[in-house]
Amino acid sequence: APRVLSGIQPTADSFHLGNYLGALRQWVALQDTHDAFYCVVDMHAITVEHSPEALRRRSKVAAAQLLAMGVDPERSTLFVQSHVPEHAELAWVLGCITGYGEASRMTQFKDKSAKYGASATSVGLFTYPILMAADILLYTPEPGKGQRLQVPVGEDQRQHLELTRDLAQRFNHRFGETFVVPEAYIPETAAKITDLQEPTIKMSKSASSPQGIVEVLEDPGPMRKKIMRAVTDTGTEIVFDAENKPGISNLLRIYAALEGVPVAELERRYAGHGYGQLKKDLAQLLVDTFTPIRERTERLLADEKQLDRILADGAARAGAVAARTMEVVRERVGFVGRD
Ligand code: TYM
Repeated sequence: APRVLSGIQPTADSFHLGNYLGALRQWVALQDTHDAFYCVVDMHAITVEHSPEALRRRSKVAAAQLLAMGVDPERSTLFVQSHVPEHAELAWVLGCITGYGEASRMTQFKDKSAKYGASATSVGLFTYPILMAADILLYTPEPGKGQRLQVPVGEDQRQHLELTRDLAQRFNHRFGETFVVPEAYIPETAAKITDLQEPTIKMSKSASSPQGIVEVLEDPGPMRKKIMRAVTDTGTEIVFDAENKPGISNLLRIYAALEGVPVAELERRYAGHGYGQLKKDLAQLLVDTFTPIRERTERLLADEKQLDRILADGAARAGAVAARTMEVVRERVGFVGRD
């Protein structure tokens, strides 16, 4: 089976609607057809100032949410990045074939460092995409056999994926065929869900206000309110027009992705109806989607032993694959063998 690898940062107490539609739903779907590796990237989460206690809690809540959404530990390997030290080891090697200028062009780094200021910008934030490349390439299938490695992510990760592809090709060219060049797997409709209050910017844990974000784990009351109060556009017609009607277009995107229907079908369904009706129905759809996930997450968190066992098992399986890849990498770059 083709491989799939993806990761998510445990940087909030709940994932949000953008994470769910842009990436996590695809994680669940792809386990039917792929050999899947899914990773809670706690090492990425320390690239900005953080609380150790919160990180520990959020890593567990993240794993529980993934299981609650349907990541099946029997079929997929679910693990915590820091449990597999090869991630950091491969990142070092890849860092040594990354150009300084190349890394400096990453727009997410430029945005974040501008936001935090030079004194709060760590070297780890700068090399973040290289660690992400290591996350992916450690799980390469054997090259040269027509095998694929797919990476389900939202649009904001496209540039990091491009860097990963460049690094895989460069390593292969310099040291011999080692990595399958990975492919981004980005959904069409839900690649970029925007903020409910500022529908021209991405919904994001770091940049959005609480009113701009729908959290997977929030209660139905606030969830409904946020949708009902979402910024819409002047006019009354329910039509998709990302340029002139970004608010309504975002709601249509969310609705279409959740229900699995084309936007055009929703435009037909809501012809002659007002924004209020669309919002009311969408709010209901969200509550129906996230309530069972919230309840399952709570149950999973109540049995921490079981959750720890699943993660230990995932770490063992991921670690075995990572160890094999690193053995080849060490040999290729010329590190002396150890008996
Ligand atoms: P992170 O943790 O910020 O987000 C997790 C996933 O959610 C997607 N996403 C969105 N999709 C659509 N609309 C949005 N508003 C939205 N916001 C977030 C992200 O694209 C991502 O797929 N660098 C990664 C984590 C990572 C990773 C990896 C991903 C580390 N190593 C290896 C894939 C493979 C990140 O910060 O995602």
